Amino acid sequence: MPVDWMGRVSLPFSPMIIAPSLLASDFTRLGHEAARADRSGADWLHLDIMDGHFVPNISFGPAVAGAIRPLNKLIFDVHLMCSRPEILLEPFARAGADRLTVHVELGQRVTALIWKIRSLHKEIGLAINPPTAMQAAEPFLGEVDSLLVMTVNPGFGGQSFITETLPKIQQAAAWRRERGLNYRIAVDGGIDFETVAQCARAGADTFISGTCLFHRRNLKAAVAKLRKLAEAAVTPAP
Ligand code: DX5
Ligand code: ZN
Repeated sequence: MPVDWMGRVSLPFSPMIIAPSLLASDFTRLGHEAARADRSGADWLHLDIMDGHFVPNISFGPAVAGAIRPLNKLIFDVHLMCSRPEILLEPFARAGADRLTVHVELGQRVTALIWKIRSLHKEIGLAINPPTAMQAAEPFLGEVDSLLVMTVNPGFGGQSFITETLPKIQQAAAWRRERGLNYRIAVDGGIDFETVAQCARAGADTFISGTCLFHRRNLKAAVAKLRKLAEAAVTPAP
């Protein structure tokens, strides 16, 4: 993979990214689900890592990510909802993660976490929870490859989209424009065939979706529909 002068991996930039979230897949058939996502036409596979401390739920760890890695060629987008991501960055890098996302709520530790991810030659994601002010993310905008605006409170799939997060997406887009930056603007939580358009219009370009995609028999058709709705939302009418 190409690496820039700062040691950052540069993955090909595409206009709209669709990332099914494995959390909503059928855990009794994880290998089958990873392969189904691989054939779905999606861009990334989103892996939610929950530690039972940063969020009140536990999901899965690097061993599971490593086990499904050979079954899926998509970019592995690892979302660490963890109090101590320090201890998990290397294990997930070894397990085949392409992007490692940590939370801005970790405060003073964020800078060191970003350095660590960069030293592992992985893409850098920064996530922000609904109650956290966007100003918390501002100092890191020039350092990250993606800003993940949480559109639900993290911890569980299948929650309703929080409309009040839309101005945060707009703010992320305004900062990117004004400062000539190129981080992706990702949204995560309650993204479905209705909310995707609102997020795209607000400036999001990366759509993480669990329930709306994995709970459908035809994942490929659902991914195509989500992508089409996102693109249509930002395409000016003729
Ligand atoms: C929430 C997770 C999400 C979740 C999204 O804590 O970060 O990635 O899987 O699931 P849905 O799309 O069902 O809201
Ligand atoms: Zn997530």
